Amino acid sequence: MSKINDQSMDSSMEKDPGSSGRVKYTSAFSALLPYVKPHRRTFLLLFVCIFLAVSAELLQPYLFKIVIDDYLEIGNTNLSILLLICIVYFVLSVTNLIFSYLQNNLLQKAGQSIVGRIRKDLFLHISKQSMSYFDRVPSGSLITHVSSDTEAINQFLTQVLLSLLRDGLTLIFIILLMFQLDVTLTLYCLILLPIIFLIAIAFRSYMRKTYQIARISLSRLISFVAENLAGMNLIQAFHQEKEQQSQFTDRNKNYLRANLREIRTNVLFNRSFDILGNLAIAFVVWLGGYLVLNQNMSFGVLFVFITYIRMFFQPINTITQQWNMLQSATVSIQRIWSIFSINPEVEDVKKPIDINLDEVEGHIDFNHIQFAYQDGTPVIHDLDLHILPGEMIGIVGTTGAGKSSLISLLCRFYDVKRGSVEIDGVDIRNIRQSTLHRLIGLVQQEPYLYSGSIVDNVRMFDESISRDQVIRACEFVGASQLIEQLKDGYDTRLSERGSGLSAGERQLISFARIIVFQPRILILDEATANLDSHTEQLIQAALHIVSEGRTSLIIAHRLSTIMQADRILVMKDGAIVEEGSHTKLLELHGYYEQLYLHSQGHTMNEAG
Ligand SMILES: Nc1ncnc2c1ncn2[C@@H]1O[C@H](COP(=O)(O)OP(=O)(O)OP(=O)(O)O)[C@@H](O)[C@H]1O
Ligand SMILES: [Mg+2]
Repeated sequence: MSKINDQSMDSSMEKDPGSSGRVKYTSAFSALLPYVKPHRRTFLLLFVCIFLAVSAELLQPYLFKIVIDDYLEIGNTNLSILLLICIVYFVLSVTNLIFSYLQNNLLQKAGQSIVGRIRKDLFLHISKQSMSYFDRVPSGSLITHVSSDTEAINQFLTQVLLSLLRDGLTLIFIILLMFQLDVTLTLYCLILLPIIFLIAIAFRSYMRKTYQIARISLSRLISFVAENLAGMNLIQAFHQEKEQQSQFTDRNKNYLRANLREIRTNVLFNRSFDILGNLAIAFVVWLGGYLVLNQNMSFGVLFVFITYIRMFFQPINTITQQWNMLQSATVSIQRIWSIFSINPEVEDVKKPIDINLDEVEGHIDFNHIQFAYQDGTPVIHDLDLHILPGEMIGIVGTTGAGKSSLISLLCRFYDVKRGSVEIDGVDIRNIRQSTLHRLIGLVQQEPYLYSGSIVDNVRMFDESISRDQVIRACEFVGASQLIEQLKDGYDTRLSERGSGLSAGERQLISFARIIVFQPRILILDEATANLDSHTEQLIQAALHIVSEGRTSLIIAHRLSTIMQADRILVMKDGAIVEEGSHTKLLELHGYYEQLYLHSQGHTMNEAG
């Protein structure tokens, strides 16, 4: 894939993808070149088609000149020539039609495939980013980049580029033909060109502004919708619908206003052009008429001249209309390339140490690590922890103590700020990330299921894992009974995020994932303390099976989950405050005992 590290691109776009810096056409379009290059033959062919279509179109009026000046005399009886000219006229029309059709098809094909490729690379690039990136960039704006920004590039390729080529060529041809017809009149007409440019430049900066405002409002609207859809249950639970609705209405109104303003500017611009065109025609009629009456010009020439002048303004208008799209495409390209230019914070080293997955024992060392999501607010302070192969470690602690952060570091979603994390004595920064992630099986606090069948969710869409393996894994962790009760059993299609299942059920399915992928190290970030006792038993049994022979780190909100652990760590404010087996910890009469007594009380309350 082509990654372009263009430092000159506005780095502020990284922070707020909705805003855009100065439009830099050259850097934007040279970025696009590597994608266009493979299609150069198509573009060459396209140019030939455009050339033929434009030539055919512009030669048609010229035929009228020949007819008017040479054959429309009273007494002329040579009708066969007239018929021939009619046939030529018809052939030119058909030629124009055929090559215009071809040109559009060629361009659409090339454009779609270029944009498809960019979209693919973009998605790949985004999916390689580190977690810190997703903490920073709202998913709504990423959705905009992958969908509408790539679409803007498509429009550039299929509409702007076509207009630039076709209308540009038309203009050049018309000027050449006009010079060939009458030099003086052409020169007079060309006086208009600077006026056209002045108008265009005056409107240009204004149009850019209105355009960008509209884009930013749209991006805000989309981010808002994306965020709301993701948190709809909360919004409803807190009766925030009205509040959210009014916020949405505000954003919607802003977008509407910005759009209307953009359209008004456009219309004003186009109409100014029409007036200019009509003035030019009036001028040609007046001056040309004068020349014809003085017999300094033939009537045929005047007729064709007027036709060409009319044709002259249309391409200029179209080209200037494309300005919006050109700008949107430029902004989009810059935004997309500013994403491409961001390298993941967590990256593989140049020469990673090769690790044989089968030979990993599962030693884990956290050597005096320090970590902060944002500089200045440390989340983990100088934590030193050494875990033996096959050991089962339970982690408990207050909320926000840094338990999930600790395992994020082991998975290398983030890099430690100080110290090191080692597996079997190898610093995980020297292990390829793909290897590391095969090594570790993670069941997250909120197990994520994708829209797709249960089978696909268990094998994570990896077709090399058979359906039988999946079913065996589910039976193994005790999820089969639950799955068979579902409508289509293993083929039940889960909706987005597996919302049809309870948190416990989702966790059971994630256990099956672990069994299928056979990682050496198991990490479980327990979803919730509130499971019904049946699911709790299922999970307990599954955990016992899954952790067998693996080094396991289990974060628990229910102490019952980890009472059997070889060692329990109690975390508070980013540090381990107590450590030992269940009985040993109770003997300490410390924080763990408090937790334990509290949970006992909780259970008794429930029982009572
Ligand atoms: N992505 C993030 N960006 C910034 N700060 C974060 C991020 N994730 C967690 N934190 C902060 O780091 C601290 C530790 O969070 P962490 O998720 O590790 O807690 P935890 O022990 O897993 O809590 P819980 O039991 O509630 O899951 C918290 O103060 C939290 O606000
Ligand atoms: Mg957590």
